[in-house]
Amino acid sequence: MSTTGPAAHIDDIDEPMVDSFGRPLRDLRISVTDRCNFRCQYCMPKEVFGPAFAFLPRDAILTFEEIARIARITAELGVRKFRLTGGEPLLRAELHKLIEQLHAIPGAEVALTTNATLLASQAEQLAAAGLDRVTVSLDSLDDEVFRSMNDMNFPVAPVLEGIEVATAAGLGPIKVNAVVRKGVNDQTLVDLARHFRGTEHIVRFIEFMDVGSTNGWRLDEVIPSSELVGLIDAEFPLEPVDANYTGEVARRYRYRDGAGEIGFISSVTQPFCGACSRARISAEGQLFTCLFATEGTDLRAALREGASDEDLTALLRRVWGIRDDRYSALRSEATEDLPERPKIEMSYIGG
Ligand code: GTP
Ligand code: 5AD
Ligand code: SF4
Ligand code: SF4
Repeated sequence: MSTTGPAAHIDDIDEPMVDSFGRPLRDLRISVTDRCNFRCQYCMPKEVFGPAFAFLPRDAILTFEEIARIARITAELGVRKFRLTGGEPLLRAELHKLIEQLHAIPGAEVALTTNATLLASQAEQLAAAGLDRVTVSLDSLDDEVFRSMNDMNFPVAPVLEGIEVATAAGLGPIKVNAVVRKGVNDQTLVDLARHFRGTEHIVRFIEFMDVGSTNGWRLDEVIPSSELVGLIDAEFPLEPVDANYTGEVARRYRYRDGAGEIGFISSVTQPFCGACSRARISAEGQLFTCLFATEGTDLRAALREGASDEDLTALLRRVWGIRDDRYSALRSEATEDLPERPKIEMSYIGG
């Protein structure tokens, strides 16, 4: 395959790259930093990610050129979306320069998932660099609840301002992600839906997942999306909408009165592994084929040992070809607890 010509679409590839269940690779989630200015208890609890925590040193982290090179090769193998994640991706200096490089790769869009604390100041620059879409994590509009969930006493207002500025910069409609925790923010979810009803933005409620080993996850803390659909539907009647693309993570609904769309991400109660076309790269260049993976493939070593584009393509094909991950489906099928095993933290793998 040519490594210098335009990136092929998956439909044009002679031998489409599929894993052992026939799933193509379409979506590359790229973590650009393992640091964050929040300490959400479900992701980076202060007890673990305190002052003594050893974050990745600078030279361990992939350069923008290294990231863009991997991204270009994955686009040639069928990737159509690059999603930048963290930690908090806007903490990475000059992120717009990476976006410029990713935007120049034909055939794939560039998206970002952020806590939006730095979005208002960066939105215009990000949009000018070619960012296509933004997703904002915002768990509650209740200031007290939000300050306590991010555990940095950070208020809601700058996040809403970030959404406004990003929309004005052309980055909307914006998806607003809220992780639902029983007894923590569930009483504030109808308000969150109400606030964005009638706008172009799309709120998505996410079931609290057992990612990593530090967030103290328990199944009885998960509110099933089916319950939340009922809760919202009782206030604002809903009807289901077809997925935007095969393997979409969120189940889509629209308000029957035409006031817009809302989504539910139910990886615990309704796993979506069957069509999972996502790979993840950590900030230090480990490639993971599942959010719940225990082991990655060291792309940084390959890059820094002088691998050619052909070598990297062959490595990616090999790793994807034997992929058989379906963690969420296995967990939901299990009649007993799955055996304890080390898992990668969300802030390292990017969600
Ligand atoms: P779009 O469909 O492009 O809007 O992106 P997305 O919904 O895939 O990305 P986003 O970063 O907004 O993720 C939403 C939620 O879904 C987060 O809680 C992610 O951790 C979760 N998520 C995304 N991909 C996967 C996946 O492959 N498996 C599981 N279990 N959860 C995922
Ligand atoms: N369960 C579900 N979603 C989570 N996120 C972070 N940790 C968890 C978890 N344990 C969400 C963030 C962000 C997205 C990338 O993942 O809120 O919106
Ligand atoms: Fe930071 Fe997002 Fe994790 Fe919260 S969920 S600690 S904002 S990376
Ligand atoms: Fe994909 Fe793994 Fe998530 Fe299943 S659990 S949808 S295989 S990332």
